[in-house]
Amino acid sequence: MTILITGVAGFVGSQVARALVARGEDVLGIDNFSPYYDPVLKFARLKPLRESNHFTFLELDVSNRDAMLAVAERHPQVDRIIHLAAQPGVRQSVTDPYIYVQANVMGHLIVLELARRYPGLKHLVYASSSSVYGANTKLPFSVADRVDHPVSVYAATKRSAELMTEAYVHLHKLKATGLRYFTVYGPWGRPDMSPYIFAKAIQEGSTISLFHLGFVKRDFSYIDDIVAGTLAALDQPAAEPSHRLYNVGAAGSEDILHVIELFEKALGKKAKIELKPGEPGDMLETAADITETTRDFGWTPKVSVEEGIPKFVEWFKAYNGL
Ligand SMILES: NC(=O)c1ccc[n+]([C@@H]2O[C@H](COP(=O)([O-])OP(=O)(O)OC[C@H]3O[C@@H](n4cnc5c(N)ncnc54)[C@H](O)[C@@H]3O)[C@@H](O)[C@H]2O)c1
Repeated sequence: MTILITGVAGFVGSQVARALVARGEDVLGIDNFSPYYDPVLKFARLKPLRESNHFTFLELDVSNRDAMLAVAERHPQVDRIIHLAAQPGVRQSVTDPYIYVQANVMGHLIVLELARRYPGLKHLVYASSSSVYGANTKLPFSVADRVDHPVSVYAATKRSAELMTEAYVHLHKLKATGLRYFTVYGPWGRPDMSPYIFAKAIQEGSTISLFHLGFVKRDFSYIDDIVAGTLAALDQPAAEPSHRLYNVGAAGSEDILHVIELFEKALGKKAKIELKPGEPGDMLETAADITETTRDFGWTPKVSVEEGIPKFVEWFKAYNGL
């Protein structure tokens, strides 16, 4: 049987696919190499996967309805789906909302339609985001909290995907699990995200802009922990059709200035910092309450920022030939 992974050339998707192939599973990967950041990194992530005969790749846009629904006919052996394809990035969603709705709302709907075309589907796991907690002030964020105040279009698309899944589970009796990931970093990480931006700026001696005057805190989650959490969820579907939501994060909130100090130490160079006011769509602090995730899947994050940032920097230097 085969696991279909969308967004397989992405940061999380490629590492989840690697872990599944390593344990002997067959993976059918989909990605459209979206140009949001340099696709060269996406090709590089796929390279080792393509060498495995447990891996098949389809270059497809998840919002292309006909092409996606044809996957069910051509690949009837799929029994689990991990849907990670999305247009990420909070800030760009404020200025260019249309591509977010296309990829994250229409794309999600089409994945749900695809899922119901597999009568024997054991589990649909999909990526949501800590951004759904939006303007909430109660910390840490719990899956029991209301999530009615997104502060970016990206967050609104992720919440929409959760709500559509709720309807599909009700209508079509799927077993679906949404994972609200919190700021993921580590080897093969995204160049548009703060860890990569910090590493690059410190290395090059350019200035890092810190918003909210540097008073930002984030739940930085190491990629290996996120992969382990995703697999733990995948392997433990609910007994009956249902829609479940879980936080998958490091369960700690790191001061952004402490994170920069760790980058300085790992790179052996001082950061140049400019403090700026907040940007529209930004959240001041994120922190995950993972009580349910640990209870239901036996999963806990293992890698601290003190351990994870040097590993990320090691990869960053090797990848960029430094
Ligand atoms: N990385 C994080 O910190 C984080 C945090 C919260 C949620 N998430 C979510 O986790 C998932 C994976 O994120 P990531 O960090 O790996 O992002 P990523 O951008 O590295 O990966 C997403 C992949 O999806 C592909 N894609 C985009 N639009 C597509 C489309 N229309 N059709 C097919 N493929 C498409 C991209 O080419 C990319 O390879 C996303 O759903 C994201 O919203 C990530």
